[in-house]
Amino acid sequence: MVLSTGINKIKTAVFISGTGSNLKSLIKFSKLNKSPISVKLIITNNKLAKGLKYGDIFKIKKKIIHFKNKEIAEKKILNELAINKIELVCLAGFMKILSKNFIKNFKGKILNIHPSLLPKYKGLNTHERAIENKDKYSGCTVHFVNAKLDSGKIILQKKVNILKKDSPVSLAKKILAQEHKLYPKAILKVFNL
Ligand code: GAR
Repeated sequence: MVLSTGINKIKTAVFISGTGSNLKSLIKFSKLNKSPISVKLIITNNKLAKGLKYGDIFKIKKKIIHFKNKEIAEKKILNELAINKIELVCLAGFMKILSKNFIKNFKGKILNIHPSLLPKYKGLNTHERAIENKDKYSGCTVHFVNAKLDSGKIILQKKVNILKKDSPVSLAKKILAQEHKLYPKAILKVFNL
């Protein structure tokens, strides 16, 4: 595995709210020579987010932003993005909806990963809904973020079969494993690599 120093790479911020397994996979990807990104900043709305530990492990700056007042929170985040010269934002299990104004400030430079085959199952409880509807498969999607929830242009998707024995938990686990591969692939595609 070839490691690169990160010089001249696209300065990237990853936004998380929880476990941060996609954050971890993006950080690992960022260290490969073929990766165009360097993860410079982790933003969370949740001071208890387990994924914050990757900031310590990989020595990446972390910022906890409380979302009691969304307008103030977003101003603080935009300020952090500017200070750190961030060029790309990757939402990875970030459970807050960003405002139109925020998105406008970072137009075309915010990506999100969602645990369904969009446009199916926008929002929450995607796995429960796919199983309830007796779908034969579900999957994950990486897309550009626009002002409408889970509706921006799709970059890449990966299908995952739903077996009769699958529960929302087992399906989430299978899809998450695919998410970890899909997000890096989608980034390579965005930058024509
Ligand atoms: C992932 O499955 C991601 O797709 C989902 O939250 C999980 C976060 O896992 N995101 C959403 O539901 C956003 N609407 P992680 O913290 O281990 O990366």
